[in-house]
Amino acid sequence: MAGNRTFTMIKPGAVGNGFIGPILDKITSAGFKIIALRMTQMTKNEAENFYDVHKERPFFGELVEFMSSGAIVAAILEKDNAVSDFRTLIGSTNPEEAAEGTIRKLYAESMGKNAIHGSDSDENAIAECNFHFATKKIYPQ
Ligand code: RTP
Ligand code: MG
Repeated sequence: MAGNRTFTMIKPGAVGNGFIGPILDKITSAGFKIIALRMTQMTKNEAENFYDVHKERPFFGELVEFMSSGAIVAAILEKDNAVSDFRTLIGSTNPEEAAEGTIRKLYAESMGKNAIHGSDSDENAIAECNFHFATKKIYPQ
């Protein structure tokens, strides 16, 4: 089961630009089932904790400011090979390098404002799902 789930956030920017609907459509059209979904705004402290792995990186402050600057849409997605397939669907971190048709190519503004997050491992997917969703708010299908 673990290998079949990933966690995503539509980031502030993409939410503000009105792209929640088109992005969710890309996700479901690619075969992912949405089994948890929530719109919320992270506090600065929550964003620091979520991206704790990057705390020594030069872009950490900017990343935390941006991710707490407005509403996000958090979701848990289910599909075979979810983590890897979802990273392919969203494209490279830098949208200028993202493949045609990927979510970042279509909807990102820049490396910082890159539209969407995707877990980078099964282990992190589990931790990130638990960070944003109580077990009773997940609806396996
Ligand atoms: P994410 O975690 O948001 O899905 O992005 P990612 O795996 O593709 O990239 P990651 O290395 O985890 O970096 C997290 C976010 O930090 C910003 N970043 N800026 N200026 C830079 O060199 C730089 N590197 C990363 C990006 O917004 C990235 O999504
Ligand atoms: Mg990452």
